[in-house]
Amino acid sequence: MRSYYVAGNWKMHKTVGESVALAKALAAALADCGEKVMIAPAFTSLAAVAEALRGSKLILGAQNMAVEEQGAHTGEVSVLMLKDLGVRAVILGHSERRHTYGESDALVNRKVRLALAHGLEPILCVGETLEEREAGRLEEVVGTQLREGLAGVSPEDFKRVTIAYEPVWAIGTGKTATPEDADSVHAFCRKVLAELYGPSAAKSACIQYGGSVKPENAAALMAKPNIDGALVGGASLKPESFVPIAKFR
Ligand code: 13P
Repeated sequence: MRSYYVAGNWKMHKTVGESVALAKALAAALADCGEKVMIAPAFTSLAAVAEALRGSKLILGAQNMAVEEQGAHTGEVSVLMLKDLGVRAVILGHSERRHTYGESDALVNRKVRLALAHGLEPILCVGETLEEREAGRLEEVVGTQLREGLAGVSPEDFKRVTIAYEPVWAIGTGKTATPEDADSVHAFCRKVLAELYGPSAAKSACIQYGGSVKPENAAALMAKPNIDGALVGGASLKPESFVPIAKFR
């Protein structure tokens, strides 16, 4: 049976108490869920959520990570600190990091390689803005984000990388790419991955879709041949919406 990977990106939401309550509710409700499920609370809640997830199958993820291992980097959180808390996955190159905080492909690539070197599973986010899409630049933008984001990543390490296609215009806007639209971009991503790692690695790569995923559209998106999971923002903040997404089948 095909396996799916559903991840919840809580972004800058929830106090420690609220995060623990949500994590416990999800761990209980998803105890019998057959999919791979990850939740990524804010840094401040990671330690408490790690404790709340003890004994659960849910994977603990972080939303970002410093580009350096340690040192004079005021305000940053290092891979060593994340691992120390039990974090196993990390979202890198999210569009909010790229567009609001100016993260470049080169920086994202260094983070991907650092995460891999320390045994974390990175989710590399890619996606075009509406302006880029309308200018016919989707493939150029997404292709570059993939090629540069994965530069220097060995075929062996690539097996631990998940790609998340998140069209910027669909994030938090209520506008979802149609399943057909998303699937065709995922197919393009797979083509680029095949150039980089060969057809077999490209075929088994996990490519999540993100951007206004909801209980109402999850099954239709996941039914598409190239959509292997979801990276969920707003709808991951409540059990009522995240549980049915993770249990879409
Ligand atoms: P929304 O699901 O709120 O559109 O956010 C998607 C996202 O950015 C997940 O990383």
